[in-house]
Amino acid sequence: MDYSPAVKLTGVSKRYGPLTAVDYLDLEVKRGEILGLLGPNGSGKSTTIKMILGLVKPDSGSVNVLGINVEDNPIEVKRKVGYVPEAPRIYEFLTGLEFLDFTGDVYGMTLEEKKKRIEEFVKALDLEGREGDMISSYSEGMKQKIVIISALMHKPELLLLDEPLSGLDPKSARIVKDLLRELTSQGVTTIMSTHVLEIAQAMCDRIAIMYGGRLLALGTMDELRRKAKMPDSGLEDIFLKLTGTGDVKPIVEALMK
Ligand SMILES: Nc1ncnc2c1ncn2[C@@H]1O[C@H](COP(=O)(O)OP(=O)(O)OP(=O)(O)O)[C@@H](O)[C@H]1O
Ligand SMILES: [Mg+2]
Repeated sequence: MDYSPAVKLTGVSKRYGPLTAVDYLDLEVKRGEILGLLGPNGSGKSTTIKMILGLVKPDSGSVNVLGINVEDNPIEVKRKVGYVPEAPRIYEFLTGLEFLDFTGDVYGMTLEEKKKRIEEFVKALDLEGREGDMISSYSEGMKQKIVIISALMHKPELLLLDEPLSGLDPKSARIVKDLLRELTSQGVTTIMSTHVLEIAQAMCDRIAIMYGGRLLALGTMDELRRKAKMPDSGLEDIFLKLTGTGDVKPIVEALMK
């Protein structure tokens, strides 16, 4: 058993001109846990995920993934990671099957592996019968399913999921959630951003709340309850208290005038 962290960010910052998207972030994610990444719009979640994958280069600090320095070995890291971007761009002129086959090739999967994995996933996510159609003809949820399959099919050790369940119907969301739990029991680590706090509360072992590019809180639900001094509260109330966005009544009233 490897007890070193799956992901370790040390003093990671990212600026876009005058704007600091991520501000000196330290974060350790344990192997085999599901970490929920929460925070208001623009708080730096997607930027953090992209820096972990090596898509965005930090201005300072270091990112270590599964014992590999991301800056030194970008390809090695991508091989071991499955990524669902928040706004995926997929080749819409391919069929679902062609896209997944292409993705499998990129990851160096054998024909056998590709066929087996694609068949299983297509069946599990109710895409059977539509896999041969052009992606441009898919509904949003169907596209999202293709993206999820393409992130999982090569059996990654780390999953970086930016709002992965958006657009999925309840049954498919349930299948993906159960699948993630199953993968976790096999030692796969997941970092998942979401705005759906019930999902975070139900699925995640620990929750990180970002605000203004910083980590506001990190812990289990119980630890967050203690930190917020709200022993009986759910994640929504704790989130609103910690991020100082709780008092929405005057905003709604102003909008109604
Ligand atoms: N490519 C970019 N160029 C300029 N600014 C950027 C870029 N990417 C992100 N930002 C800025 O960095 C900040 C953090 O953005 P980020 O996408 O990480 O937020 P987020 O927490 O994922 O938000 P959301 O919940 O809306 O997805 C925002 O202020 C955003 O405008
Ligand atoms: Mg985002």
